[in-house]
Amino acid sequence: LSTLISASLAAPALAESMTVGFSQVGSESGWRAAETSVAKSEAQKRGITLKIADGQQKQENQIKAVRSFIAQGVDAIFIAPVVQTGWEPVLSEAKDAKIPVFLLDRAIVVKDKSLYQAVVTADNVYEGKLIGDWLVKHQAGKPCNVVELQGTVGASVAIDRKKGFAEAIANTPNIKVIRSQSGDFTRSKGKEVMESFIKAENNGKNICMVYAHNDDMAIGAIQAIKEAGLKPGKDILTGSIDGVPDIYKAMLAGEANANVELTPNMAGPAFDALEKLKKDGTMPPKIIKTETKLFLPADAQAQLDTKKGMGY
Ligand code: AHR
Repeated sequence: LSTLISASLAAPALAESMTVGFSQVGSESGWRAAETSVAKSEAQKRGITLKIADGQQKQENQIKAVRSFIAQGVDAIFIAPVVQTGWEPVLSEAKDAKIPVFLLDRAIVVKDKSLYQAVVTADNVYEGKLIGDWLVKHQAGKPCNVVELQGTVGASVAIDRKKGFAEAIANTPNIKVIRSQSGDFTRSKGKEVMESFIKAENNGKNICMVYAHNDDMAIGAIQAIKEAGLKPGKDILTGSIDGVPDIYKAMLAGEANANVELTPNMAGPAFDALEKLKKDGTMPPKIIKTETKLFLPADAQAQLDTKKGMGY
């Protein structure tokens, strides 16, 4: 009984005294803002002090923030890495300082995997594949020229989402990606790039679908399609990833077709793993996977309802 009592007393005291530094990518999308907001509430729930540094989409800012967290002697560092390479030096410094690192929503490429404890992420290849599979089924052999709005260049999620979609349509010669360019995961860039695609493709008449690596770019593209006098969701189909409320609203208006949801709660599973690690040394699995599911217009209202209280 005494061990039980001391363990139950020890856990909250441990959480309350913990400080976690979170190097966030930036605030490029609605999903990103929700992830930040959920991270704050998950920390508060546990009595953990969370210090957030906004990287403004630049790896150099993120590296500076991580160094500052190391200097402050935080108990752990969370990083949502803007790009997947170039992390070895700063992560080695964190390791030398014995500060565990958790990656949120994006992966990195390092030879030495012990440089981080775990990555909380969805299967991003599968996300792209689900959109591609949906299109293959929807077209049922009919031709379709796809334009692709990629995420941030060098981000693991952009690389994986491109790969998954390409794999899904690989054996379907009727479906072709005719243009592919980065829209940097933002609404404004998504719109701008889509405008250029439309201009280059016979005022959009050659385009059958826009595949956007996130919803914000899809929403920007929807705007561009409307301004070109075409009907999004009908003249040009859409498929995108995140599940932000605006994409479900677009689905309800008949302007968006397929969506894969990505939970903004990446911090919760990382805090759980960190607490276990600190409590009794339990090592988390290297990949802590979040759920991946496709949603169609028939699901839009229910999905919109679930978004309340999810950081949006
Ligand atoms: O890494 C996750 C991606 O980053 C989200 O899909 C996108 O909205 C964000 O910017």
